[in-house]
Amino acid sequence: MARRWWTLPLLLVSALAPSFSLAGLAFENTAIVRTIELGGSLVHVSTTYAVKALEPRQTTYQIALSKAERAKTSWLEAKVKGQTTPLELSEDESSTEHLLSVSLPKALAVNGTLNLVLETVQTHATHPFPEQAAQKEPQLLKYETDLFTISPYVTLVQRTKIKSMAPNVISYTTPHDVDSFVRDGSVTRSGGTITYGPYNDIQTDTYFVAKHQQSISVHYSFDYPVLEVETLRRTAEISHWGSNLNIEDKIHLHNAGPTLKGHFSRLEYQGQIYHRRQAPHILSDFTLHLPPGVTNAYFYDQNGNVSTSHLRTVPSVAKGSKATQYSVLELRPRYPVLGGWNYSYTIGFDTPLQDSVGYDVKNGIYVVGVPVMTNIPGTVVDNAEVKIILPEGATNIEFISPFPELSNGMSTHISYLDTAGRPAVTFTYKDLTYKHTGIIYVSYQVPVSAHLKKVMSVGAALFSLFAFAFMARRVDLNLHKK
Ligand SMILES: *[C@@H]1O[C@H](CO)[C@@H](O)[C@H](O)[C@H]1NC(C)=O
Ligand SMILES: *[C@@H]1O[C@H](CO)[C@@H](O)[C@H](O)[C@H]1NC(C)=O
Ligand SMILES: *[C@@H]1O[C@H](CO)[C@@H](O)[C@H](O)[C@H]1NC(C)=O
Repeated sequence: MARRWWTLPLLLVSALAPSFSLAGLAFENTAIVRTIELGGSLVHVSTTYAVKALEPRQTTYQIALSKAERAKTSWLEAKVKGQTTPLELSEDESSTEHLLSVSLPKALAVNGTLNLVLETVQTHATHPFPEQAAQKEPQLLKYETDLFTISPYVTLVQRTKIKSMAPNVISYTTPHDVDSFVRDGSVTRSGGTITYGPYNDIQTDTYFVAKHQQSISVHYSFDYPVLEVETLRRTAEISHWGSNLNIEDKIHLHNAGPTLKGHFSRLEYQGQIYHRRQAPHILSDFTLHLPPGVTNAYFYDQNGNVSTSHLRTVPSVAKGSKATQYSVLELRPRYPVLGGWNYSYTIGFDTPLQDSVGYDVKNGIYVVGVPVMTNIPGTVVDNAEVKIILPEGATNIEFISPFPELSNGMSTHISYLDTAGRPAVTFTYKDLTYKHTGIIYVSYQVPVSAHLKKVMSVGAALFSLFAFAFMARRVDLNLHKK
């Protein structure tokens, strides 16, 4: 993390300079504005590139991220400003910087302009500073980034805004050696927003970068727990006989905020709750959104059932409908989870199978859709394993993840009622955020005897979704291989 790309041997840098400067002739950045929204486990970065083509028929624009920044970016998407469809991206990790090639929606002629927006979510990008805090003290975090947004193209003017939700910013870096880029003031603060720049005429050559690039940091107060799910193990079990989908999550949750200085006082804690001024580094409860039609919800930890949960269900809805309704599960861990502490627990629930399974009569194929995870707001999931257990005898199994998985594999799951065991598909992922709540689709066929009578009549809506996702993924994979 501490190693920055501009400290790499200059030899390596200059070896790449030719391609970088060739690209550099095609566009110029009229302006770059980077906005960083500080959080706890998650930090949002939105960068707008006002682009002007300098050569005819330009169809690909390149965005550069430092290797360190790419390493902490767990999700990214490029769009034309104001539009909703993401643009096609391909990544090139081979050069000193991480290059993203963005396919423009139409070719730009000389002097043609476009505003592109790169949106990213960073994880593990902040740390508590100091590392300890007393129960009454605020939770202070530190975030670091590079001063200049790098680009293969010359940038006429750029600025970076760093926004803290709470207005109490403790401190921030004043950059050095930037006088030649500045017309008025290098850094300004207004409430919780720190603005670096405007900086003018930012060059692309390696000498410039090596000389002027520098790390800046913001030290700020954050009023919510910094939560990390170190491991999530989700098991989704399909039962055609019971017409049921059971989902169970085993979770190891970690509070990554500052550890407690001194003793924990329950009296003070109760007082803080009473006055609604809860210590930001203590997790006392959280809320999950579960699917509609949930039954038999349970919540237990190492000591058994936790009775302090509360579920409000909404009736189940037909699959494929863009329902915005969800059941709400409020969880209160057995004890308040302080900074540095862990909490391991299991939650599970059933939903009617016909809400997530479709059947294509023509081909005799079932398709089931299983969400990768249930989001805990503001949380990063460091490691996830999702196992989908299919009915006994299922064959011709195909699957598609909503975004690239780390690994996938087939296995056989044997439970006491089974004779031969059931096929299971397992996916693993890293650094998931609320941007990764998509659906895994699995298609399969079953012997006639195991058919699910209830969904027989249901249309093929889910199947077409699957087919679409499958095609989209193939296109996507081809793109990445290139
Ligand atoms: C592009 O803009 C520049 C400056 O405004 C102008 O000199 C040039 O002729 C333009 N080129 C084309 C092809 O329009
Ligand atoms: C936990 O609660 C569920 C239902 O709320 C009950 O069926 C189960 O027996 C309980 N288990 C223990 C260990 O108390
Ligand atoms: C929390 O869990 C991690 C591993 O998941 C472990 O290294 C750490 O010691 C645990 N912390 C406490 C306070 O038990």
